[in-house]
Amino acid sequence: MGYFIGIDIGTGGTKALLVSEKGEILYKAFREYPLYTPYPLWTEQDPLDWWDATLSILSEITELSLVDPDDIKAIGLSGQMHTLVPLDKDYNVIRPAILWSDQRTEKECRYVMEKLGEKRVMELISNPVLPGFTLGKILWMKNNEPENYERIHKILLPKDYIRFKLTGELAIEITDAAGTACFSVKEGKWSEEILSELNIPLDFFPEVCKSFEVCGETTEEIERLTGIKRGTKVVGGGADNACGAIGAGIIKEGRMLSSIGTSGVILVPIYTHRFDKEGRIHTFNHSIENMWYLMGVELSAGMSLKWYKNINGIMEEAMAQILKKDPYDILSEEAASAPVGARGVLFLPYLSGERTPHKDPFARGVFFGMSISTTREDMIRAIMEGVTYGLMDSVSIMESLGVEIDEVRAIGGGAKSPLWREIQADVFGRAVSIMEKDEGPAYGAAILASVGVFIFKDIEEGVEALVKVKEVVEPDREKTDIYREYYEIYKKLYPALKDRFVELKRLDEKQR
Ligand code: XUL
Repeated sequence: MGYFIGIDIGTGGTKALLVSEKGEILYKAFREYPLYTPYPLWTEQDPLDWWDATLSILSEITELSLVDPDDIKAIGLSGQMHTLVPLDKDYNVIRPAILWSDQRTEKECRYVMEKLGEKRVMELISNPVLPGFTLGKILWMKNNEPENYERIHKILLPKDYIRFKLTGELAIEITDAAGTACFSVKEGKWSEEILSELNIPLDFFPEVCKSFEVCGETTEEIERLTGIKRGTKVVGGGADNACGAIGAGIIKEGRMLSSIGTSGVILVPIYTHRFDKEGRIHTFNHSIENMWYLMGVELSAGMSLKWYKNINGIMEEAMAQILKKDPYDILSEEAASAPVGARGVLFLPYLSGERTPHKDPFARGVFFGMSISTTREDMIRAIMEGVTYGLMDSVSIMESLGVEIDEVRAIGGGAKSPLWREIQADVFGRAVSIMEKDEGPAYGAAILASVGVFIFKDIEEGVEALVKVKEVVEPDREKTDIYREYYEIYKKLYPALKDRFVELKRLDEKQR
C-alpha cells in the first residue's frame, strides 16, 4: 500500500495529513504560528515558522511509526495564495512574508492599473491588480524598502518556499503562479509584458510546474532531520483554493465550492478561459490542465468568527476546556439559539477590507441594527449570517455572468458547524453537500501527490476514487425568503458607508 502526505501552509497554521491510496487518513496534525499585524491593514508571517511547523509534523509522522517510511510515496504541498516570500542570493528570506490579506499596496495597484490601463491589464493577466496579489507587494518593496528590493534574487510563494526547503528545487506551481498578477492566466506562462512594463526582472520567478508533476525529491538533510526517506517525491501541489477544490471534487463545470476558512471562497471551474470584465471575481488556472476557475474571495470569513472569539469569547474558551469541546462548536450552538435574521442585527465582514465584490482595502467591519434587546447569541449568529451574505455576493456575480451552478459543496468551518451549513443552504437557496472527508486543502494536496506517482491516471480518477459526499443539506424555503429580505438591506449598507471608510482611513494615517 502506498501513502501520501498532504501539507497545507495556511494562515492560521500548517495542517498535514497522512493518507493511504484508499483515502484512509492515518494521521492528522495542525501547528499554529503567529500572524503579525505591525500596522492596521498589514499582515505578515515568518516563513521559518511555516518551516518549523513542517519539520515538526514530518518528524512526528515518522516517530509514530504509523507506516514504513519507504511506503510514503510522495508529498503534495498546498498553501495560502499570493503571499510574497522574497529570497536573497543565498536563498535566505529577506523580510517577513507579506500576506494575501495585507492591504498596504493600494497605491502600487492603482499605479499599475493607471499606467497600463484596466483593459490591457485584464487582457494580460485576466484579473485586475488587487492589493492581495503578489505584484503590488513586490512594487511596495521597491518603493518603500529599496535596500531590501535590491537584494531580491528569487520570489516564491509559501508552499513553494517549503518545497525549496524540502528538496532544494526552485519552482512555482501553476495555480499559485496565477495569483501573482505577474502571470498570463490565459497562456499559462509568466507575463513578460507586464513585468517589463514595470521593470521587474523575469528571472525573479522560477520555472512554473504542474500541480501533479513531480518537481523535486527530499534531500538527505530532510531524512536526517525528520526520518522521511531521502528521495521522497514532492509534486507541484496547488494553491489552497485549488487544493480545497480538488479535495471536494470541484473539477467540473456546474459544481461550486463554498469554503469558509480564514478567508471565504466561492469557486466554480470553467473549461474555457474567460474573465469578468469588471474584475469583481478572479480567473485563475486550476490544477487540471486547460481548466480554469472563477473565484470570489471574502477576506475575513472564518476570521470574523475568530476575531469575535478572541475579543469576546473568554466564556466559550473556558467552557470548551471544561467540556473538552471546540470553542467554535459552543459559539455555533449559541448562535443556533438566536432566530433567523439575528433579530435584525447585520454584520459586514470587512475586517481586513474586502476583495469580492467591493475591491476596497479600506472597508471596515460593521455591526448594524443593534437594539437594547440584542443578545450575544444574536451577534454571533449575525457574524455567521453576514459572512454568508458576503459569499452570496460572489454567487450573485457568478449567476450574473451566466455561470451554471448545479451543485454546491461546502468545506471548512462553514461545513463543520451544522448551523452554518443550514445558513448557507438557506441564504444560497440551494442544497449544500458536505464531504465525507472534509480535511481542506491538505487532502487535495495528498490526492495530487498520489496522481504524481501514477497511483491514479489523472486528477479526475483520483477524485472519483477518494472524494465522496456525506450528506446533503436542503434549503428551507421559508427561511430563504426571510434571508432574502435581510440580504437586500445588507447589500445597501456598503454603498452607504463607502466614503466613511475612506474618512476613517485618513484619520488612521493622521494618528499614526
Ligand atoms: C485567494 C486568497 C485566500 C488565500 C487564503 O485569492 O487570497 O483565499 O488563498 O489562504
